[in-house]
Amino acid sequence: MTVVGPFGLSVRDQALEADVQAGLTAVEEGLLEATKSEVPFITEAAQHLVRAGGKRFRPLLVMLASQFGDPYAPGVVPSAVVVELTHLATLYHDDVMDEADVRRGVDSANQRWGNSVAVLTGDFLFARASYILADLGPEAVRIQAEAFERLVTGQILETAGPTEGRDPVDHYLDVLGGKTGSLVAVACRFGAMMSGADETVVDVLTQYGERLGVAFQLADDVLDIASDSHESGKTPGTDLREGIPTLPVLRLRERVARLGLAEDIALSELLDSDLTDDARHAEALTRLRAHPALEQARRDTVRYAEEARAALAPLPECDAKASLIELCDLVVHRAG
Ligand code: IPE
Ligand code: IPE
Ligand code: MG
Ligand code: MG
Repeated sequence: MTVVGPFGLSVRDQALEADVQAGLTAVEEGLLEATKSEVPFITEAAQHLVRAGGKRFRPLLVMLASQFGDPYAPGVVPSAVVVELTHLATLYHDDVMDEADVRRGVDSANQRWGNSVAVLTGDFLFARASYILADLGPEAVRIQAEAFERLVTGQILETAGPTEGRDPVDHYLDVLGGKTGSLVAVACRFGAMMSGADETVVDVLTQYGERLGVAFQLADDVLDIASDSHESGKTPGTDLREGIPTLPVLRLRERVARLGLAEDIALSELLDSDLTDDARHAEALTRLRAHPALEQARRDTVRYAEEARAALAPLPECDAKASLIELCDLVVHRAG
């Protein structure tokens, strides 16, 4: 049994492990190739986060999904490169939106070169992803366009907040499906589709990816509160500082409405205050880490991961399916 990738995924079958490793190595080469520009500064900015690492969660999913057809089919690796480049581009943009200064354990692009360079480098990465996508055919282009539309819609709706009368948790879950579920679903879909898997298998894996993506983002939101930057490679409490209410905060607000406990109200008020103040931010983080609302959000994360696992039921038993099932647990484990 060998462990693959930063999640500690254990792969029993040697052939599967070899396929996944070979695929991921080819993706690394593809990413470096796709991020070269004639302008050295653009290469430096575009490769900054490629070289900083990252989990390569989406390429890993492409590789596992490709096991349901021919994993050596020519579209598999390029489609994984497209998905990771798209993800990467959204990280450049997201760090501008979130005013984040650390990403993948290094300075964010906006921190190092300013917002304009970060935004334009993100655009450059989209352009490069589009070149590769063009060779994968019109259906792949359409799938990517749809997902990308959902992704930016999610990001915009997160910024805009829920409309009057809308349940904040429902709004939040919609945002997560858009900003993260969409692209994780495409990773699974491309892997299966490019390998020539049956249409029903492609659909099952797409459903799985959508749910796993939401669980993944829920875990990320819990980690934003619970982890230190050493673990996540990001600055903890970024969502709080930006005033983006994620599930732990939403669950706390629900408790305030339901139970009206003085200490919950006090914490809720602290969270609503200006958390760009360092001392207040640290206080809010410490108190939320110890609050039952965080545990509740963890339980919600487990539920979504279980839904992802359930989506896999129609697939034939095989080692790739076992790995996809294990990923459901691993995604949740990240959240403690
Ligand atoms: C970060 O994605 C943004 C989310 C959707 C949670 P990842 O956690 O996959 O980031 P990297 O690629 O490992 O840096
Ligand atoms: C980012 O969401 C999702 C996308 C990049 C589309 P977050 O803002 O929660 O992700 P991190 O925490 O910065 O990675
Ligand atoms: Mg962010
Ligand atoms: Mg964000």
